[in-house]
Amino acid sequence: MVFLAVLTNRRLARTERHIEVERGEPAPGELRLKALQQELDRLIGLRTVKATIREIQAFAHIQRKRSALQLASQPIVLHTIFIGNPGTGKTTVARLLSQMLAEMGVLEKGHTVEVERADLVAEYIGQTAHRTREAIKKAMGGLLFVDEAYALARGGERDFGKEAIDTLVKAMEDYRGKFVVVLAGYPEPMRAFLRTNPGLHSRFPLMIEFPDYSDIELFKIAESMFTQRQYTLTKGARRQLADLIRRMRSRDPISFGNARTIRNIVEKTIRMQAVRLMGRREVSVEELITVLEEDIQGDPISYTSYW
Ligand SMILES: Nc1ncnc2c1ncn2[C@@H]1O[C@H](COP(=O)(O)OP(=O)(O)OP(=O)(O)O)[C@@H](O)[C@H]1O
Ligand SMILES: [Mg+2]
Repeated sequence: MVFLAVLTNRRLARTERHIEVERGEPAPGELRLKALQQELDRLIGLRTVKATIREIQAFAHIQRKRSALQLASQPIVLHTIFIGNPGTGKTTVARLLSQMLAEMGVLEKGHTVEVERADLVAEYIGQTAHRTREAIKKAMGGLLFVDEAYALARGGERDFGKEAIDTLVKAMEDYRGKFVVVLAGYPEPMRAFLRTNPGLHSRFPLMIEFPDYSDIELFKIAESMFTQRQYTLTKGARRQLADLIRRMRSRDPISFGNARTIRNIVEKTIRMQAVRLMGRREVSVEELITVLEEDIQGDPISYTSYW
């Protein structure tokens, strides 16, 4: 009993010491983590996504702390499913998450390896396992992002996609804590895929849903993209942009590409502004940074997310 009390006191003393140390100057890793957090915060909308990322971060951080102090800790299994329509920020958030986990010391490197079916599945027997293992090897210490993961089950039981899934599952067992797998995809096919692969699903304790952006969020995303590129919009251009976003979404809500479509609009607008200024002998700085109403041209058909 006395021994236990001494032990507990010693642990508490160590805990206090630990907290003392943390009150000093932030370490470079902490500063980088803060910068990544700010980058995440700067993404428009995504309230629940940001909250879940914070949860993951807090969980991993505290479990590591507990284990360092020899307290019982949960295994840090962070394999996650990302569900969301095109252009909702899945890839962007995965890249940030991987870097954050590295800064926290949960992952060794923090890079992201993005793959899809064609990168994992080969045409001949035996090649798929090899190809998948190669991708996993590249992702060690970081995050393996499997985009449109359901495509792995496309051909059914006899397809080599199954070999890729089996190889992935085995690696997740063999290299626990050494890398994180994110399976990403659009909502409907992803849910169907997980229902038909319960063994795989059970290995992913976390799921993050990326909702479609509202028209206002899309407008803000466009604004931030223009600002990043050092362009400003006139009042008329802003009105035209808001109108274009609304029209495009209502014309084709299913294949509307969220922020990806917005990026296409921004890039097209920049080209249109360039064409307008092209013939001029002299162009002022003001003109170079200003986007006019006429630069925002609405041809919704050519802005879909699939090109
Ligand atoms: N919330 C946001 N704020 C600002 N920019 C964003 C936001 N979400 C996405 N973007 C930008 O939109 C583009 C598309 O995002 P991203 O590639 O992450 O989407 P995705 O969900 O992976 O799409 P897909 O399923 O088509 O691969 C990127 O240029 C990204 O920087
Ligand atoms: Mg993506």
